[in-house]
Amino acid sequence: MDRTPLGIVLNGVTGRMGLRQHLIRSILAIRQDGGLPLRDGTVLWPEPVLVGRSEAKLRTLAEQHGLTDWTTDLDAALARPDVQVYFDAQVTSARVKALRAAIEAGKHIYTEKPVAESLAEAVDLARTADEAGIKHGVVQDKLFLPGLQKLHRLVRGGFFGRVLSVRGEFGYWVFEGDWQGAQRPSWNYRAADGGGITLDMFPHWHYVLEQIFGPVNAVTARSVTHIDERWDEAGQPYAATADDAVYGLFELDGGIIAQINSSWAVRVNRDELVEFQVDGTHGSAVAGLHHCRIQPRAGTPKPVWDPDVPTAQRFRDQWQEVPDNEVFVNGFRAQWEQFLRYVAEDGPYTGDLWAGARGVQVAELGLQSSREGRRLEIPELGR
Ligand SMILES: NC(=O)c1ccc[n+]([C@@H]2O[C@H](COP(=O)([O-])OP(=O)(O)OC[C@H]3O[C@@H](n4cnc5c(N)ncnc54)[C@H](O)[C@@H]3O)[C@@H](O)[C@H]2O)c1
Repeated sequence: MDRTPLGIVLNGVTGRMGLRQHLIRSILAIRQDGGLPLRDGTVLWPEPVLVGRSEAKLRTLAEQHGLTDWTTDLDAALARPDVQVYFDAQVTSARVKALRAAIEAGKHIYTEKPVAESLAEAVDLARTADEAGIKHGVVQDKLFLPGLQKLHRLVRGGFFGRVLSVRGEFGYWVFEGDWQGAQRPSWNYRAADGGGITLDMFPHWHYVLEQIFGPVNAVTARSVTHIDERWDEAGQPYAATADDAVYGLFELDGGIIAQINSSWAVRVNRDELVEFQVDGTHGSAVAGLHHCRIQPRAGTPKPVWDPDVPTAQRFRDQWQEVPDNEVFVNGFRAQWEQFLRYVAEDGPYTGDLWAGARGVQVAELGLQSSREGRRLEIPELGR
């Protein structure tokens, strides 16, 4: 079969997301499966060019995965005619500069979120990319999770009747790093280094809400730093200046109210690390990363409030599991395949830099809402 190589600069592959989700579970997995079949019968063959700051780390990583193409010189990689796509999974604070260089070099870009640390930069990026006529996409992995795909299917199938509300719980305990090592990089907890859970998670919640339920029109949020001292990768104490929890309220078209708690200072008493309960006039659902359970109108129990009598009902048992009904591949890979098809054959694609900018906008307004203690409407972004 005809193989068409597509050069992709992968910047930030020594990081958590870049390595595990994007390089191993997406690009290398596509290669292991023989490439990406296209409509015209040919196969797209991703050729990764690993880019990073540390020669030693890149060399080791390349060797571990049987790759030979790596460099610490981003400009040189971007100047190569065989490279058509630039992908960024660097720390957030390094993103805009690199994306800008890639756009200037005429490459299509695909990037982790948040696309920028400020709305002004995010809009400017989207505009510059449009003017350059390149294709652009932002990671929206949560939409591709099996649990959320099942939830989306329920919405499309009219299961809920009129959707009333969405309650999201996201988070887990991130160790401070003293008596047990922290399981997330320390930059996430320093405001000056692009950290903060509002900037990290609101872009996710924005595309989840917008694409599954409809436009988000207003936000009210409270961002806080519960744990203000942490220990870094070298075991050194540092001041945790970024917000590590945010309690947000989002108002959507149709009067839908979404309330989402995000926290790195919460202990999990849920089935999954993120869960959304959706209540509608005709039914409710609880969706997580993998599972989705429903309770239709006709299966709704009728509890009566009586504090004197311990309840005999087992409420959690009154829900029904939504079957998989299809094979769900890794969400990051599924979106990579969609983006590569968009580049190679103009396939459908939704999550562009404008969608990324709307995510940054909600994060920025959320932080402002928290500072000022008030609800903020979300203006439409002019292109
Ligand atoms: N889509 C998701 O679910 C998801 C989850 C976590 C993180 N992210 C995003 O992915 C990006 C990377 O996050 P991560 O958790 O993989 O981080 P990480 O710290 O593990 O990796 C960061 C990468 O950036 C590189 N880098 C470039 N300049 C740097 C600098 N000045 N300081 C430190 N590192 C620098 C590092 O070498 C490394 O390769 C962030 O923008 C984050 O918001 C997305």
